[in-house]
Order: sequence, then structure tokens, then C-alpha cells
Amino acid sequence: MARPKPHHPLFRGLFRHTVAVDLGTANTLIYTDDGGIVLNQPSVVCFQKHQQAGQKRVAAVGSEAKQLLGRAPNNLETVRPMRHGVIANFSAAEHMIRQFVDMARPRPFFGRRAAFTICVPAGATQVERRAIKEAAVAAGAWKVSLIGESLASAVGAGLPVSSATGSMVVDIGGGTTEVGVIALGGMAYNGSIRVGGDQFDSAIVNYVRNVYGVLLGEQTAEHVKKTIGSAMRDVPLERMNATGRSVDDGLPRTVEINNHDIADAIDGPLRHVIGAVKTALESAPAELVTDIANTGIVLTGGGALLANLGRRLTAELGLAVRIADEPLTCAVRGAGAAAEAGLLDDLVYE
Ligand SMILES: Nc1ncnc2c1ncn2[C@@H]1O[C@H](COP(=O)(O)OP(=O)(O)OP(=O)(O)O)[C@@H](O)[C@H]1O
Ligand SMILES: [Mg+2]
Repeated sequence: MARPKPHHPLFRGLFRHTVAVDLGTANTLIYTDDGGIVLNQPSVVCFQKHQQAGQKRVAAVGSEAKQLLGRAPNNLETVRPMRHGVIANFSAAEHMIRQFVDMARPRPFFGRRAAFTICVPAGATQVERRAIKEAAVAAGAWKVSLIGESLASAVGAGLPVSSATGSMVVDIGGGTTEVGVIALGGMAYNGSIRVGGDQFDSAIVNYVRNVYGVLLGEQTAEHVKKTIGSAMRDVPLERMNATGRSVDDGLPRTVEINNHDIADAIDGPLRHVIGAVKTALESAPAELVTDIANTGIVLTGGGALLANLGRRLTAELGLAVRIADEPLTCAVRGAGAAAEAGLLDDLVYE
């Protein structure tokens, strides 16, 4: 029997289903209008090696694959397909999206044939945008719209995006920091730098190697950052142990690290983030900057959870800072809400 085409009225209703996807450097989230957040997994995929050419078999995806990062046996290859919010490995991204869509599918008609709204960083090039669309289509999406991550995050953080009063949102993700100034439902300023949590982790790896002569894995560095990381040094001392490989003899060695070390370690990438916010304040229209001086700025993305970040930004910029509720899910919830409301159509890049 011939399959009904998507433009059949009944099916158009089914396809009008909102599916929002935040394909992030660190985490991928999928939101549907009826199920809320139906998937929240690390953006990692693990392939079985030694397959025939062109026949990649996925061995694990998401949190299962993340556990294998840096510790996969020889017959497995673990890949993070996204870098700085854009696709770095097309085929891996396509496989990963396909698996995630399958995992998220609550009902038979969802997924392969749904229209997707996907968050992209403002700094993504046309080529990078096209790659994201094509990967989603290859993974089965019927139609793909892209939405700027700042705007999606602002909506998800509950900012009054349609009001004449300017708001500023700073989304600190795994591989990008996006700064957006929004008023009257439009972006008055949108900036994106390729610095995020990954760069904080590498800064910690470099610091511990230089100061203690121990090479930590990226995952260990991330764990240290989440446990005792601080954006400021003037805090009570906290310590923890971390194990890596000694650069002298190559043997495992455990070192005690404290939160003051981490504050020093991540100061470089943190200054880039603060610089991006300063540039936004210098470049956005003066009236809106006045509004922001009154209302303050809102932080979203996983990086917003770095301890004392709000206080550091306030100290450097003289502005009030609020951390959004559930900062890790703001972008996908906002993209879903924007798509559902048919809101801000001109801001959704076709
Ligand atoms: N408590 C915490 N303290 C510091 N950093 C954290 C904390 N929790 C999560 N992070 C960091 O947040 C980052 C992930 O955030 P998020 O999921 O918003 O990124 P993403 O959307 O995948 O990336 P991008 O938007 O850059 O593509 C990771 O680098 C992670 O280490
Ligand atoms: Mg993000």
C-alpha cells in the first residue's frame, strides 16, 4: 500500500507536532509539546571499529558512550561529533541524532517524520548551518528550522522578549558563549565566542600539568571543575584529590587540588567570557544598555552553574546577575515555546 504523503491534511496535523532539539557541544536535549523534555544526553557516540567500509555500527550513545570517553577498548571509537556548537564530524552527528530521535520517540508517528526546530550558535557559518539541517534530515526530520541559541535561551529563561525594554542573556555552553540583547521580539545584538566549559576543562588540565606535573583526563578535569570550581579566588579554601598520570615517570599519581588553584586555572577563558559581555554592552544600542543596567543580565547554559560566576560578573561589570532556573534546559524549552507559539517567526532562520 502506498504510504500517505505528508501533505495529507490528517498527517499535516500530526506533523505539526513541535519537536525542538538543542544539539549542543556537551549535551543534546529534545523537547516535544506533549512530552516536555523527552531526551537529555551527553553529545557522545561510540562506534564499533573494524566494520566493512561505509558500515558504521553504533555501540553506545549518550551517557553510556560518555563513560567510554578516554577509556574505550581498541575495538571501539568514541566521538564527540559537536565542537563549539557546530558539527565537527558529520557522519557521527547523523548517527547520534538518529539514535537520539529513536530513544526520544514516545509514539510511532513522532520522530522520523516530525518538523524540527534546532538551536544554533549565532557564530555558525552558512555551511555549518546547512550541515546541521542536513544531518537532521538524514536522521529523518521532515522539515528543519533553525533558531539562534541566545533567543531560545532568553525565551526559556522567561525574559520579556516581546517587551520594548531590553534584556541581556549570556548562555555559557560546552563550546560556545553566546551573548544576546533582545527587545521587541528581536535581537538587537548577538555575539558568539568559541569559549565554553570545554575550554575551562582544558585550562584545568594545563594548569595541573604545569604546576603539579600530573596529566589529568578531560573527564576528571570536568569533575574537578563541577566539584570545587570557582570564578573567584576570595572564597574559603576547599580541597579535593584528583588522579592522573605523572609526566615524570608515566605512573598514576594523585594530587590535592584546591578551589583557588581552579580559579587561577580558568581565569584565562573566563576573561574571554567577560570580554564578550563587555563587547555586547559597548555595541548594543544605548537605550537598551540603560535598560540592562536596570534589569541586570541572566545567565543560562551549564557554565552558569560555575560557583561565584554571578558575583565575578557583578564585580567586573557593575551589573546585577541572575542565574536562570534550570540553566541547562533553557535553550531547548525556549526553542520549543517559540516554535509552539509561532512566535518570532522572522527570527527562526529557514
Ligand atoms: N556545576 C557546574 N559548574 C561548572 N560547569 C558546569 C557545571 N555543570 C555543567 N557545567 C558545564 O556546562 C557545560 C555544558 O553546558 P550545556 O549543556 O549548556 O552546553 P551545550 O549546550 O552542550 O554546549 P554549546 O551550547 O556550547 O553547544 C559543560 O562544559 C559542563 O562541564
Ligand atoms: Mg547550548
